[in-house]
Amino acid sequence: MASSRWLLVLYSTILMWWWCYCFSNIPAACLVQVNETDRLALVAFKTAIDRDPYGALSSWNDSMHYCDWEGVLCSRRHPHRVTELNLSSRHLVGSLSPHIGNLSFLKSIYLQDNIFHGPIPQEIGRLFRLQTIQLNNNSFGGGIPNNLSRCSNLKILYLIDNNLTGNIPADLGSLEKLTTLGLGKNQLSSTIPPWVGNLSSLLSVSFGYCNMHGEIPQEIARLRSLKFIQLSVNNLSGRIPSGLFNISTINFLAVAYNQLRGSIPPYIGSTLTNIKSVFLIGNSFTGTIPTSLSNATGLLEINFSINDFTGPMPKDLGKLFGSSSDWLCHESVPG
Ligand SMILES: *[C@@H]1O[C@H](CO)[C@@H](O)[C@H](O)[C@H]1NC(C)=O
Ligand SMILES: *[C@@H]1O[C@H](CO)[C@@H](O)[C@H](O)[C@H]1NC(C)=O
Ligand SMILES: *[C@@H]1O[C@H](CO)[C@@H](O)[C@H](O)[C@H]1NC(C)=O
Ligand SMILES: *[C@@H]1O[C@H](CO)[C@@H](O)[C@H](O)[C@H]1NC(C)=O
Ligand SMILES: *[C@@H]1O[C@H](CO)[C@@H](O)[C@H](O)[C@H]1NC(C)=O
Ligand SMILES: *[C@@H]1O[C@H](CO)[C@@H](O)[C@H](O)[C@H]1NC(C)=O
Ligand SMILES: *[C@@H]1O[C@H](CO)[C@@H](O)[C@H](O)[C@H]1NC(C)=O
Ligand SMILES: *[C@@H]1O[C@H](CO)[C@@H](O)[C@H](O)[C@H]1NC(C)=O
Ligand SMILES: *[C@@H]1O[C@H](CO)[C@@H](O)[C@H](O)[C@H]1NC(C)=O
Ligand SMILES: *[C@@H]1O[C@H](CO)[C@@H](O)[C@H](O)[C@H]1NC(C)=O
Ligand SMILES: *[C@@H]1O[C@H](CO)[C@@H](O)[C@H](O)[C@H]1NC(C)=O
Ligand SMILES: *[C@@H]1O[C@H](CO)[C@@H](O)[C@H](O)[C@H]1NC(C)=O
Repeated sequence: MASSRWLLVLYSTILMWWWCYCFSNIPAACLVQVNETDRLALVAFKTAIDRDPYGALSSWNDSMHYCDWEGVLCSRRHPHRVTELNLSSRHLVGSLSPHIGNLSFLKSIYLQDNIFHGPIPQEIGRLFRLQTIQLNNNSFGGGIPNNLSRCSNLKILYLIDNNLTGNIPADLGSLEKLTTLGLGKNQLSSTIPPWVGNLSSLLSVSFGYCNMHGEIPQEIARLRSLKFIQLSVNNLSGRIPSGLFNISTINFLAVAYNQLRGSIPPYIGSTLTNIKSVFLIGNSFTGTIPTSLSNATGLLEINFSINDFTGPMPKDLGKLFGSSSDWLCHESVPG
């Protein structure tokens, strides 16, 4: 009885080692659980990095489990599945491997403030659990991949400050959970798509500094939770959709340095009750500066200069800022 149990144990042990030997190319797999798909995808990610001057990926070696590699976070509920990749500000130079699309449990990608070049791979669209993509402040080029629209759980798409070109794929209009859409500081040379108004969860939208032209679509005023809007330094023309001035949640409204015209509604101080910053500088706005702005007690910075405004400066505004000259001034237009 006892001997047959020992035989069984021996048999299973041999079977296990035989299985490991034949089907796994890393012996560690027999002792620690791994998902080969995730491991190989990470190895491919590292292979696409050309330079890593500070050794950020030096822990990415075979003697460490990949869940312990720097910047890699694995799931608790699904052990050994990678859920987060955070290698921001690591001075990495290279391209983003298309094999990233195999990390099927990935929820967040933070690769901002590096020197990634080349395209954002379409394979990223396979990551349907993805909620956050931060690739800002790199040198990614080419177009915005339309397959991103398949990341239906995406909340944050932050691609600011890259070298992206071309149109904004219309498919992105289906990303109904998106709260942050940051596409500024690229070379998009596009128009602002009307479907932006369909992204009903949007809190923050940025198309600043990216060579956009055409009119600001009326549909943008459908974004009833919008807080931050940055459209500065483009070639936008026409008028600001009047509905935008009725979105009470907005606290930052910048359209500086465009070719916008028309007047500013007199009531904005009572509709934009949360407004902190307004940058209208460098357009062709006409009419008077609304006195109602003195009711916007949260106002911190405004610059209406270099326009065709007429009439006096509302003196109550001066009171708001505690001096009569500061209120028009702001040295720069934030990105
Ligand atoms: C590893 O991940 C792949 C892709 O998600 C999956 O098909 C496979 O079953 C996983 N393997 C293990 C051992 O969990
Ligand atoms: C990623 O998945 C694709 C398709 O299943 C496969 O061809 C490729 O080899 C995988 N990449 C890695 C690094 O395993
Ligand atoms: C693997 O990475 C760990 C952690 O950075 C390091 O201590 C170890 O020396 C590395 N092993 C090899 C073979 O490079
Ligand atoms: C990403 O990693 C950096 C450096 O370790 C850390 O400061 C930052 O908080 C991390 N970001 C997130 C979202 O976890
Ligand atoms: C961009 O990233 C670099 C590091 O690669 C950093 O030095 C720089 O401050 C970042 N720029 C911004 C605007 O965050
Ligand atoms: C992009 O998405 C389409 C379906 O919309 C799919 O057929 C294609 O394989 C995807 N491309 C990649 C590289 O994942
Ligand atoms: C941006 O793209 C242009 C061509 O499209 C290229 O000439 C330039 O070097 C790129 N700049 C960076 C910083 O990658
Ligand atoms: C917004 O969504 C509705 C409903 O899905 C659709 O009919 C409409 O075409 C979309 N608008 C734009 C500008 O894409
Ligand atoms: C506006 O358009 C002109 C002519 O096409 C171009 O030279 C200029 O760079 C554009 N300005 C911006 C901020 O995009
Ligand atoms: C915006 O608010 C003003 C003042 O309350 C109101 O007169 C106007 O009809 C509103 N406009 C829209 C488009 O809702
Ligand atoms: C400021 O708000 C009060 C109360 O809503 C209103 O009576 C007054 O006319 C407003 N002032 C301006 C300059 O709009
Ligand atoms: C508005 O900003 C510009 C530069 O962006 C600055 O030169 C100017 O002084 C500011 N306006 C006033 C009235 O000072």
